[in-house]
Amino acid sequence: MLFKKHTEKPVVDERLRHIAFIMDGNGRWAKKRSMPREAGHASGAKNFKKVIRYCGDLGVKIITVYAFSTENWKRPKHEVDAIMGLLSDYIADAVAMVDENNIQLHFLGDMGIFPPEMQAKIKNAEEVSKDKELILNIALNYGARAEIAHACETLIASGKTEVAEEDVTSALYTAHCPDPDLIVRTGGDLRLSNFLLWQAAYAEFYFTDTLWPDLGEREIDKIVADFYSRKRRYGGL
Ligand code: FPP
Repeated sequence: MLFKKHTEKPVVDERLRHIAFIMDGNGRWAKKRSMPREAGHASGAKNFKKVIRYCGDLGVKIITVYAFSTENWKRPKHEVDAIMGLLSDYIADAVAMVDENNIQLHFLGDMGIFPPEMQAKIKNAEEVSKDKELILNIALNYGARAEIAHACETLIASGKTEVAEEDVTSALYTAHCPDPDLIVRTGGDLRLSNFLLWQAAYAEFYFTDTLWPDLGEREIDKIVADFYSRKRRYGGL
């Protein structure tokens, strides 16, 4: 890792191509302010845009965020609706600003659960952004075990009778990008919560108590510096 003169901003290289974020703590952020949980998600969505922009500025080429899990449907309808509204607004903005943002959008998860209009919006967003530079994966109605089971189904349907690791990798929702180098979870919990289980095999982890809406540029600099202080041995010496 280098530091740009004057700004002290880290500049990342190919060792940190892909960062994944578990954006946890929106509800607690709102509670601390006696606000409804929905306000926490709105603040989380705002920070998501800032974090994406900042990571892109640092030179990170691929970013994955856990926006909505297969388990999140258990939340009250008004909260689910609020998160879906924020996502839908983000998709509309991302499509409108596709040239300025230079972001290639991918949605990870089973989109079949969404109404046809939402599915069409998602497909269109992926289509219009497909030649852009920065890859942004949004995990939506996503669960890693379901993803692996789905990959197995795909391989069976394609007639495979023997399966290598690469076959599974290429049948996952993340087939278009390398595994995450770093997985960051905000909000203080020390778990993966069914996120990228296959892809996380050699990822570095960073857990912070900071609530997602409060994750700022200086802490991202710290996380990046911490990543570069680690030795990745991939099982070797
Ligand atoms: C976890 O915090 C967060 C979520 C389940 C939703 C994440 C959604 C957003 C950041 C907004 C929409 C996203 C995009 C990409 C525009 P929590 O509610 O579990 O927080 P808590 O643990 O404090 O209750």
